[in-house]
Amino acid sequence: MNLADAIDASRDRLRQRLGARAPRTAILLGSGWGALADQVTDAVDVPYAELPAFPRLRVGGHAGLLRAGCIGARDVIVLAGRQHAYETGEADGMKGAIRTLAAAGVTTLIQTNAAGSCDERMRPGELMLISDHLNLPQRSPLCGEPGDERFVDMGDAYTAALRTAAQAAARAAGIPLHEGVYAWFLGPQFETPAEIRMARLLGAHAVGMSTVPETLLARHAGLQVLALSLLTNMAAGMDTQPLSHAQTLACARAGQAQALRLLQAVLAALPA
Ligand code: HPA
Repeated sequence: MNLADAIDASRDRLRQRLGARAPRTAILLGSGWGALADQVTDAVDVPYAELPAFPRLRVGGHAGLLRAGCIGARDVIVLAGRQHAYETGEADGMKGAIRTLAAAGVTTLIQTNAAGSCDERMRPGELMLISDHLNLPQRSPLCGEPGDERFVDMGDAYTAALRTAAQAAARAAGIPLHEGVYAWFLGPQFETPAEIRMARLLGAHAVGMSTVPETLLARHAGLQVLALSLLTNMAAGMDTQPLSHAQTLACARAGQAQALRLLQAVLAALPA
């Protein structure tokens, strides 16, 4: 099946499973944010395996799950599981998934991730709203796309009005929320201290191995994007602690409750 047919088939399957629901907000869960899926009420689960345009995932035994339902009063789709560019060397692993969401009527993508802080003022366990990004690998999931739409304007990649709403929600909930630039590294290895010095010189506040490809796909598909990082460590060379995935997950677990509280407050505050 080619990608266009797979997206049509995925959209039809999704619509059939959603019934009368018409969620306009999708949330892509990154490391440390997975428990949000437990807060969805009135849930309908659609395994990625039922959606031909979605990636087949094998990381950590999770096959990928789309869960539709409500968080508070908002109709949402929650995506648990993403394919990272470091798994395949290609940046387009989430292309079919994001285009399916757009075809099914989603207009806003909220992304979440775990990231390393490269700003001394932003500490592990704290949260950062992504204001902009650095696509350091200079990879794009849009390579090979036809048409003028491929020349996506990235001047407002992370919609300013959504960021303002998110900051207001964080303030009202009493949750500190930094804001800064996310630098994408391809991974899967962590960065070297020299690479982190470079990223800081270039204006990065946090570094991670995800999110940017999905932002490019979402903007190309006409979605608005809001993105939140849970800072799980000081980046390489800024701390004596060695970096590991286990350390990322342990810190993510510790910061998770506040991260979820923030996300709920943001969802309640976003424009309808
Ligand atoms: N670097 C890249 N990705 C990450 C980090 C980091 O320090 N922490 C969590 N994800």
